[in-house]
Amino acid sequence: MQPTLTLNNGKTIPQLGLGTWKSETASVGEAVKIAVRAGYRHIDCAHIYGNEAEIGTALQELFTNGEVKREELFITSKLWNTDHHPDTVAQACRRTLENLQLEYLDLYLVHWGIAFAAGEEKEPHGEDGRVKTEAVSLQETWRAMEQLVEEDLVKSIGVANYTAPLMVDLLNYATLKPAMNQIEIHPYNAQLALVEFCHDKNVAVTAYSPLGSFGERSEKPLVDPVVVDIATAHGVTPAQVLIRWSLQRGLVVIPKSTNPNRIAENFAVFAFTLTDEEMNRLNALDRGHRFVDPSEWWGVPYFG
Ligand code: A2P
Repeated sequence: MQPTLTLNNGKTIPQLGLGTWKSETASVGEAVKIAVRAGYRHIDCAHIYGNEAEIGTALQELFTNGEVKREELFITSKLWNTDHHPDTVAQACRRTLENLQLEYLDLYLVHWGIAFAAGEEKEPHGEDGRVKTEAVSLQETWRAMEQLVEEDLVKSIGVANYTAPLMVDLLNYATLKPAMNQIEIHPYNAQLALVEFCHDKNVAVTAYSPLGSFGERSEKPLVDPVVVDIATAHGVTPAQVLIRWSLQRGLVVIPKSTNPNRIAENFAVFAFTLTDEEMNRLNALDRGHRFVDPSEWWGVPYFG
């Protein structure tokens, strides 16, 4: 059995899921089918990834073939920044459900703690070169998220890319507590303090970009000598060490791949355990390095 975590509302989530950010529309459907056939039961999606319709087609095929049942899967999606207005939250959620061909989501996250101007443009920019924002508070958006649970469109709600101050604020006004904060985590951005804070508040944490996402391979944790050394000691791959490190920290982890071999490789992480010493060596690689920081292209220093 693969490990699950229990969320603060009593629902369970498989600790390992398939990431789909940057998965091409041409290959994401096949990737989802391969993953489910390999044993994955958790798929992480988002409207902004532009591939939910293809994922929906693949899920339908799996259901129709009787390969997996809807209730055996955990499907996450995320509310995009242009859809924060309370009047558009339900609409955005329904559009995602339509694309994914689902009646409900297991988890719906506020993708970022910033409201963009509504409209077709996904990252609307003003003449000052900065992203156009809208006067909608995160509290208003959260109320609308809570409503989605009332309406049975989603089982759990949470956030992504929330810093500690945003979490403090949210926990003060939330009637339904966020079940999850999804943030970038790998040994170069270990987020030890924010994870401890969230866990203290009984909010689960998902590690996104656990392999270091896209970008220059030479600077990635995948090729770090410490990671490679630990992988060699266990006879596993560096990716497997990185995934295992997240699992052993009690995190949910969602490595992305559309490559059949790597999808299988990333799931073969339940037969070995990192020692405390190895976990500490990996924790010591932390340098607060983000691979995913939209500050420059939004013209908003999001992470400060
Ligand atoms: P691909 O989809 O071709 O496998 P992250 O989950 O941190 O965002 O990382 C995703 C990146 O890592 C993608 O470029 C993905 O490419 C690659 N990747 C996924 N699994 C592995 C693996 N097991 N070994 C090396 N690279 C991997």
